[in-house]
Amino acid sequence: MRDIARGWRVDGSSIGLVPTMGALHAGHMSLVDAARRENDRVVVSVFVNPIQFVPGEDLARYPRSPERDLSMLRAAGVDAIYKPSVADMYPGGSSTRVVVHGVADSLEGAARPGHFEGVATVVTKLVAATSADRAYFGQKDAQQVAVVRRLASDLDLGVEIRVCPTVREDDGLALSSRNAYLSAPERMAAVCLSRALGHAAEAYGRGERNPDRLRAILRKAIESEPLAQLEYAEVVDPATFLTPGTQAVLAARIGKTRLIDNHDLRLPYPG
Ligand code: PAJ
Repeated sequence: MRDIARGWRVDGSSIGLVPTMGALHAGHMSLVDAARRENDRVVVSVFVNPIQFVPGEDLARYPRSPERDLSMLRAAGVDAIYKPSVADMYPGGSSTRVVVHGVADSLEGAARPGHFEGVATVVTKLVAATSADRAYFGQKDAQQVAVVRRLASDLDLGVEIRVCPTVREDDGLALSSRNAYLSAPERMAAVCLSRALGHAAEAYGRGERNPDRLRAILRKAIESEPLAQLEYAEVVDPATFLTPGTQAVLAARIGKTRLIDNHDLRLPYPG
């Protein structure tokens, strides 16, 4: 990858990077489209990063669709697909990890200890391997965005972090590779996350600013769904991920599947 990117650099081309773990859907492809519009060359990485999975999580059964991914990326006209093996990425003896403090500690960071260390490490390596000018991330993973922004700034990575809106199904469910785990009744129940965000945005629009009451609205919408189990519902600052703020963030289990979603309450809720 490094040699290809070096060739592009010599040509004076700008390079956009879209990091993914594969099992691609329209959310991923919206990042590819944005990268295509804003750069001369686009590289998409497909790598299920083992070090960002916490023990007991779904690493072994994480959805994989290599042929479909390839045809989607070819059809989108990307210039390169970077698909390293685990041994390429983490050769024996590899022992360096990138740790982001503060913004990576709360919520997802607390629920999944070591997760953001894995994300920060692989994103640093992907940016280095591709010499990217811009890297594209989805608002769907709002805390990941905040962690990556902090990382890029603190380590002077020289990459611009670009963020694209969350792509949703017609009923509001945010697209996610993990939605594939949901049974039909769970799929119907999963809409409670986006519904909760809609209710909170509506209340915010009516002038509700009390964080306890906004949190209660989020909680109630999840708790009224029998198949859902709430992990957290908070309204945080979008840069620090500490309360108080305007970013409503949610994590819930639908059956065994853990889903997250978020919305900036200052914006009208889509749908
Ligand atoms: P993955 O879950 O494959 O997601 C890749 C990118 O797609 C992330 O930036 C994610 O926020 C974005 N994305 C996922 N669902 C989306 C949706 N519905 N709308 C818009 N964007 C969406 O996130 C990761 O992989 C990994 O942590 C990674 C950054 C690749 C590091 O391993």
